[in-house]
Amino acid sequence: MNENQPKDPCITEIIVANNGPLKIKGNLEIQLASGEIVTKEGTTGFCRCGVSKIKPFCDGSHRNIEFIG
Ligand code: FES
Repeated sequence: MNENQPKDPCITEIIVANNGPLKIKGNLEIQLASGEIVTKEGTTGFCRCGVSKIKPFCDGSHRNIEFIG
């Protein structure tokens, strides 16, 4: 089994990473603020720190600001 996929596909698995993004496992269809639809598979990280340059997704920038949350 791929660890990036949810254990039970009927359950949405959400992980709040310590001092990092919100990770959601599974196949996602996301409507961006622009209205564009983006699809993601596996684990997708959503920015919680506010500094990502690819919001709503995490780009790892939280490490540069030593985000706590
Ligand atoms: S949580 Fe990773 S860039 Fe914001």
